[in-house]
Amino acid sequence: MASVLARYRRSLVERTRHHLGYPYNLDFDYGELAQLQHFSINNLGDPFIESNYGVHSRQFEVGVLDWFARLWEIEKDQYWGYITNCGTEGNLHGILVGLSHYSVFKAARMYRMECVKVDTLITGEIDCADFGKKILLNQDKPAIINVNIGTTVKGAVDDLDLVIETLENNGFKGRFYIHCDGALFGLMMPFVKRAPKVTFKKPIGSVSVSGHKFVGCPMPCGVQITRLEHINALSRNVEYLASRDATIMGSRNGHAPIFLWYTLNRKGYRGFQKEVQRCLRNAHYLRDRLRAAGVSAMLNELSSTVVFERPPDEEFVRRWQLACQGSIAHVVVMPNVTIDKLDHFLDELVAKRAAWFPAGGSQIPCIAADVGEENCACTLHRC
Ligand SMILES: Cc1ncc(COP(=O)(O)O)c(C=O)c1O
Repeated sequence: MASVLARYRRSLVERTRHHLGYPYNLDFDYGELAQLQHFSINNLGDPFIESNYGVHSRQFEVGVLDWFARLWEIEKDQYWGYITNCGTEGNLHGILVGLSHYSVFKAARMYRMECVKVDTLITGEIDCADFGKKILLNQDKPAIINVNIGTTVKGAVDDLDLVIETLENNGFKGRFYIHCDGALFGLMMPFVKRAPKVTFKKPIGSVSVSGHKFVGCPMPCGVQITRLEHINALSRNVEYLASRDATIMGSRNGHAPIFLWYTLNRKGYRGFQKEVQRCLRNAHYLRDRLRAAGVSAMLNELSSTVVFERPPDEEFVRRWQLACQGSIAHVVVMPNVTIDKLDHFLDELVAKRAAWFPAGGSQIPCIAADVGEENCACTLHRC
């Protein structure tokens, strides 16, 4: 067993060293928390109501939630939230709250929704002209809208104010519920000066963020915050738990809140701000060097997700764990992605390109159609 584990550890070290594609901060040190490994910490039930199971970490969970409530500007006595298992669970919960807000039965809620996809702009953000048209076709019912605070592939940020304006101008005032999916950027945007604000001072219903992405955590986790007024419609008391059932999962990871609490306290607002600024700087560096090497590349203004043409060599894609969709690939510049690491990647990419495209031009489709001509300074493709 010892040698199996040692080999596995070595492979983790190597895979961590060559990771660029997914939005996970792999740089953290939770050594001080090793003393808690021997406990089965479980926060089953509602974070604000103590269950009969005493090996929990609710005090840390509520501390983390208060931190996020302050970040997203909602008073302590006005919000409800919990630490989820991941960003996806936050989205599921946000939409679920949106549905229960409009009194649909829980069993039907998750699966019987009518879902309308809205077109996006070239940047990846929601096209509010199309959004306006689509809601007008559905005037007979209230709307639940998922607003993306950082899309997965292009790192686009939906214009929350314009989404609200579109709803209100089309007769939906008071008849909508907005869930903000801030899986990655939910914790980056507040620290970017020119970024539009996600705040409960606007008519939004919930915000979720992944804990293992920008914060960095050894296990997937997330944070979900909603308005307390919405949660009563959804929850019920469970005698067996001696708590309230308002979460999606039953048993809930009690270690995750302690990890999050630890990092939030260690770094604080200032620490996150510095990290966000460094990530954005490094992302610009990567985009500029890609373009200088003749690689078609784009970077949305508020984003550290650098999108570029997909390398035609699957082995190279796997080696750097690039996330790909169609003809594009991306690198998400997280706090652990240093200039050294980017240089290493870029040097390899440039050397490989000489072998992939001996005539000097790439054979893969240009991504100008995706990024818009004005964003693309690619020399090989004459965009
Ligand atoms: C926009 C967006 N929402 C949700 C998720 C899902 O988050 P998780 O992996 O924490 O479930 C992701 C993951 O990358 C994402 O990019």
